[in-house]
Order: sequence, then C-alpha cells, then structure tokens
Amino acid sequence: MKKYICPSIMCGNWLHFDETIRQFENNQIDYIHIDVMDGEFVPNYTLGTDMVSVLHQTTQIPLDIHLMVVHPELKVDYFQVGKDDIITFHIEATRCPQAVIDKIKSKGCKAGIALSPDTNITAVLPYLEQLDMITIMTVYPGFAGQSLIPYTLDKIASLHKAVDALNKPYLLEVDGNVSFDNAKIMNEMGANAFVAGSSSLFCKDHSFEDNVKQFRSIIEVSSRG
Ligand code: DX5
Ligand code: ZN
Repeated sequence: MKKYICPSIMCGNWLHFDETIRQFENNQIDYIHIDVMDGEFVPNYTLGTDMVSVLHQTTQIPLDIHLMVVHPELKVDYFQVGKDDIITFHIEATRCPQAVIDKIKSKGCKAGIALSPDTNITAVLPYLEQLDMITIMTVYPGFAGQSLIPYTLDKIASLHKAVDALNKPYLLEVDGNVSFDNAKIMNEMGANAFVAGSSSLFCKDHSFEDNVKQFRSIIEVSSRG
C-alpha cells in the first residue's frame, strides 16, 4: 500500500517558504498540507487563498488543503485548485456536508472530510463512498505543537476497515502530533497519509532530509490491518 507524506507547511520556516518548498521537492514529498483557519471554527488564523495560489505558481506538488472554517460550503470557491489537489472540510463546521462535497467535486479536485477528536466516525459513514480522504484529527484542531489525544487512535482501525471494504484508492490521513513514535502506531493501525509537522519532519535535532528518511523507514512497513 502506498504511504503518503504530507508535511504541514505551517510548521516550516515562515521567512523562507521558498527553501521549504525546495526541500519538499528534493525529498519527493507527496502532498503539501496547508492549514486554513478562520479564527471562528478554531481560535487561530493561519494560511489562506493567497498561499494556495503562490504554491501553485511555485511547485507541482499537489496540495492538501485542510479547511478549519465555518460554513465551508460558502468558501470552497475562494480556492484555486488543480485535479490532484484535495480540499478537506470539518464535518462539525457545516449543516450540509453533502453540499460541500458537491461543491468541492464541482471544482474537479478531490474531496475529504476531517473529524475532530470528539466526533464519532458514524458522522462520516454516509459519505464514505463519495470521498477520496478522511482526516482523523489526533489533536484538537487549531494549533501545531500539541500532544496526541490517545483515544483518537481507535478511529484509525475502525475507519481502515470501512474504507478497505470500499475497494477503491483511499487516503486515511492522521493529523496532529504525528511524531516518529506515533507514526509507527498510526501506520500499524492502518493510516496511509501522515501530516508530519513539528514533532517529526520539522524537528530541529536533524536535517529535514534525515527526518524524511527516518519517517519513511517507519511508515513503509505494512500495516497490521
Ligand atoms: C492543527 C493542524 C495540523 C498542525 C500539525 O490544527 O491541523 O496540521 O499543523 O502540527 P503538529 O505536527 O505540530 O501537531
Ligand atoms: Zn491540518
């Protein structure tokens, strides 16, 4: 099973995003994870539409756009996307998930739903077949540098079974404190896409390149599922 490394660019060096992007390209990164926060769904502001446009002009690496915004159905159209990009919205942020999925699909890109820690997987099951990715938040959305919430791990195995039964290519992504140790557990439980941030790829103890090598050696071991 292919495993996908998706560095969270908000954990990179904000004064030198150009260098960070070169590092991503030199290390065959699969997706650039972009956290979009509106100060309402989460108590923080980060990257937005301009960053998405600049990245499109700068690199061919597809984008994994993580919307932490209320009423995503009204905001999907703000983003310029390509067919290989993914737009993920939080199921807790809208009363009409189907409308958001339709809106994302109408843009010709891939669609994903993110689940906050206290949201049960049953919330996403009705939409599973239409989606390309599920993001399991393993921390409360809003900030980098937090610690893993252990009970969120249980969702990985259950959703892995559910998406496996669909028999189609699927990204089961984990986001939040995906450290080297946590990535090993998450991988064993069936995750295949890893948002890697401050506790792994951007860890200052080693170079980005060495961190990617170590991370890859951990996740390219087949899962138990
Ligand atoms: C948090 C974001 C994450 C965050 C990850 O709301 O969705 O993508 O940037 O950062 P770390 O890896 O430090 O938890
Ligand atoms: Zn994220």
